[in-house]
Amino acid sequence: MTIGGGATVAGIIGWPVGHSRSPRLHGYWLERYGIDGAYVPLAVAPDNLAAVLRALPLMGIAGVNVTVPHKQAALAAVDRADATAARIGAVNTITVATDGTLEGSNTDGFGFLENLRAGAAGNLDLARGPALVLGAGGAARAVVAALADAGAPEIRIANRGAERAERLAAEMSPAERGEPICRAVPWSERAAACDGAALLVNTTSLGMQGQPPLEIALDALPLDAVVNDIVYAPLETPLLAAARARGNPALDGLGMLLHQGRPGFEAWFGIDPEVTPALRAHVAGDLGAA
Ligand code: ATR
Repeated sequence: MTIGGGATVAGIIGWPVGHSRSPRLHGYWLERYGIDGAYVPLAVAPDNLAAVLRALPLMGIAGVNVTVPHKQAALAAVDRADATAARIGAVNTITVATDGTLEGSNTDGFGFLENLRAGAAGNLDLARGPALVLGAGGAARAVVAALADAGAPEIRIANRGAERAERLAAEMSPAERGEPICRAVPWSERAAACDGAALLVNTTSLGMQGQPPLEIALDALPLDAVVNDIVYAPLETPLLAAARARGNPALDGLGMLLHQGRPGFEAWFGIDPEVTPALRAHVAGDLGAA
């Protein structure tokens, strides 16, 4: 599509940024809705992040997504962060306000929940039982916060490094719900922690292309538990294949990426865009069957 002189411009800041699928995602939506706009990859080294963010309003840029390794630094650099971003400790979406200030938000948890809701449809009632979250890194923070807000009665967090899991569990248990609902589980007990779970989520990098597979025996997992891997390269991780083989509903991580892009697109371009099978196929590209 030809970009006009009055086009609205947004983009994604990362270092490196070449691997990002967000330009494909937003580019598809711009085309689909016939918007005069552009969404560009911006390779920005960590030392330059603050200066680049300060320059966005000066260049008339509507906003940006922020990805690895800048999400934590972006939280410190914006003028205002919403409650979700502050709680997660990271910003992935920045909007330039009309007065030129920068508003930060984090849409990873939104993307995670919307993907679950869209993909697991009737199979998922988050209030029905405990969730088991594997990992305690940046992605886990967004997932655990979203699950706590969505009413999960108990969140079990298993991480290779026990201390990180314990810190996350302590931080994310919402005080207003009385009893702490998050608890750390030793990594060696992750298989047993599947017992009675309504949801199993992998947020570790295990199973990603070039990484070892996630090893976990699923015998204790109820057959109606939804299994979600937030890894999307490859789309079908060994965890999802094992879950599907025993009959569990299984959801890959691509949908989380697609849905997390919606709030930014709406803020910059004015339309809450749809996540469709055609979009999925377009963004999945070479990831394997969508
Ligand atoms: P992200 O922001 O994608 O969550 P991260 O913060 O680097 O990335 O977190 C990576 C997660 O994968 C962590 O939970 C990490 O466990 P540790 O906290 O113990 O490092 C987990 N992880 C990475 N490699 C792993 C491995 N070989 N075995 C188990 N867990 C692993």
